[in-house]
Amino acid sequence: MCGIMGYVGPRPAAPILVDGLRRLEYRGYDSAGIAVANGTIAVRKAEGKLDRLVEVLAEDPVEGTVGIGHTRWATHGPPSDRNAHPHADPSGAIVVVHNGIIENFHRLRDELAAEGAEFASETDSEVLAHLIARYYDGDLVAAVRRAAAVAEGAYALVAMAEQEPGRIVAIRRISPLVVGLGDGENFLASDIPALLHRTRDFLVVEDGELVVVEAEAVRLETIEGATVDRTPFRAEWDAEQAEKGGYDHFMAKEIHEQPTVITETLGGRLDGHRVHLEDVRLSEDDLRKIDTIWITACGTALHAGLVGREVFRRLLRIPTRVEYAHEFRYQEPLVRPGDLAVAISQSGETADTLAAARLARGLGARVLAITNVVGSTLSRDADDVLYTRAGPEISVASTKAYTAMLVAEYLLALLLGTARGDLDAEAADRLARGLEHLPDLVDRTLRREDEAVAAARRLVDADDVYFIGRGLDHAVAMEGSLKLKEISYLHSEAMPAGELKHGTLALVTEGVPVVVVATQRHLYDKTLSAVQEVKARGAFVVAVAYDADDEIDRFADVVLRIPDGEDLLAPVTAIVPLQLLAYHVARLRGHDIDQPRNLAKSVTVE
Ligand code: M6R
Repeated sequence: MCGIMGYVGPRPAAPILVDGLRRLEYRGYDSAGIAVANGTIAVRKAEGKLDRLVEVLAEDPVEGTVGIGHTRWATHGPPSDRNAHPHADPSGAIVVVHNGIIENFHRLRDELAAEGAEFASETDSEVLAHLIARYYDGDLVAAVRRAAAVAEGAYALVAMAEQEPGRIVAIRRISPLVVGLGDGENFLASDIPALLHRTRDFLVVEDGELVVVEAEAVRLETIEGATVDRTPFRAEWDAEQAEKGGYDHFMAKEIHEQPTVITETLGGRLDGHRVHLEDVRLSEDDLRKIDTIWITACGTALHAGLVGREVFRRLLRIPTRVEYAHEFRYQEPLVRPGDLAVAISQSGETADTLAAARLARGLGARVLAITNVVGSTLSRDADDVLYTRAGPEISVASTKAYTAMLVAEYLLALLLGTARGDLDAEAADRLARGLEHLPDLVDRTLRREDEAVAAARRLVDADDVYFIGRGLDHAVAMEGSLKLKEISYLHSEAMPAGELKHGTLALVTEGVPVVVVATQRHLYDKTLSAVQEVKARGAFVVAVAYDADDEIDRFADVVLRIPDGEDLLAPVTAIVPLQLLAYHVARLRGHDIDQPRNLAKSVTVE
């Protein structure tokens, strides 16, 4: 996720672009840059937060009244000056900024390189500048259209050409883009909040559309060239509400971003059941040597690891252990040379996880990081990196980063399973197809938020809440319980459903809420036995179950439904109603949802 800006008008473009980027910084902040037309196109960019760009501009200003800008959240190529946007073709006559992923960029880059092209960055985005330049013969719209016809993926692109200084041209393929309509000037941005202080009149560019922005005119068409006639709308949001995309809290916004985040994390990595993970370079010899997989992480990342353990065990038949990173580092773990250590961390900066990864490496393991932050310490320490592409997660309570971690683990299992021969083609195909369906399943789950609201009303005054499940459902129960406790401050515990009767059942009395996750069909009857045990003690049972499950209503007081799907992939959908449940309980209790007491987003101390 990156932020993009554009301006065409009579005023100096640079301050307007920088101001817009500051409001888009929540979308990414590892580097930033602008390009301004003034005879030629001048580009200024810098690694780091936007203030670095401001310093660069103070030393080396740019003049001109037409320009584009970008604030980056790295996906291809680490944060650096050269990977920062804007990117230009070698002549500097075509300049682009881009948000999203060009899925076939390796192939496009190879083709361009075979024709003699030299690239100045490691990004997928630069390919677009080369492509547009290749097709350019004085008509930027036509060249952008031709480039869009070959560049696959979910992205937004803004381009300018030295020969056409009064206009910018943009396309939207899924990734968001809006036009702000001014008086004798017009703006482009990734979202409305970046422009709300400039105008209240907007045109939303829809998926599959191209827009030509000039100072006095805006022309909207489809990428293929058909005319689009859309009436502008007037935004009534206040600025703070708008920054959260119209949601009241970042947590709600991030929960609702999950279908997109899953799409982005899968983007360009699946070809049939073949997986391409560009920063994972395990050789056949490395694969053969793996005796045990050690997953180390903390908090929500550890809960993602619990899902990974089950998936690796089932699909790869490799013994897999999940260890709290802070325990692992003092355990003298029995890691053997050649083992695979998978360190999971959204931030890539959690001190305990970094230490655990270094310890595993010192013992001879190969370290593979699953992280959301390109260029983070963990990504630099690791031998291999599998980036989730969740974009910046602002809410302390992690949601979209968790589902992105799960998707990353499934991709890793698919990669290892096919490479080692543990997975036959049919099983691999089934998993790959299931992964591709996930955005839709999560989207459908999110549409049932009212069910979570109703359940939250029943839990808001509870003292204690218990979460149970078996197998993968237990992993989801752990994460659901953590979400609830960290933002609602209700006491909550999760345990395997079979463990309840060994002690905790003593605490289950009339009206005590028990949340059961019941998606694993092969364990369903056993799970229901535990439900009956708590029901017999008067518990108030909330169940997460498939749409097709018509038995659960006999046992549960409230059912949070998820669409039917593959049991192995169910954690991705089953966590969603529990995230919503936690959110709405905390909201009803009037808490500071995005910044819960005593907690920090990233724990960089031991
Ligand atoms: O950045 P990390 O993934 O390493 O963070 C680990 C935990 O601190 C984190 O997941 C924490 O548990 C979340 N705030 C829970 O929502």
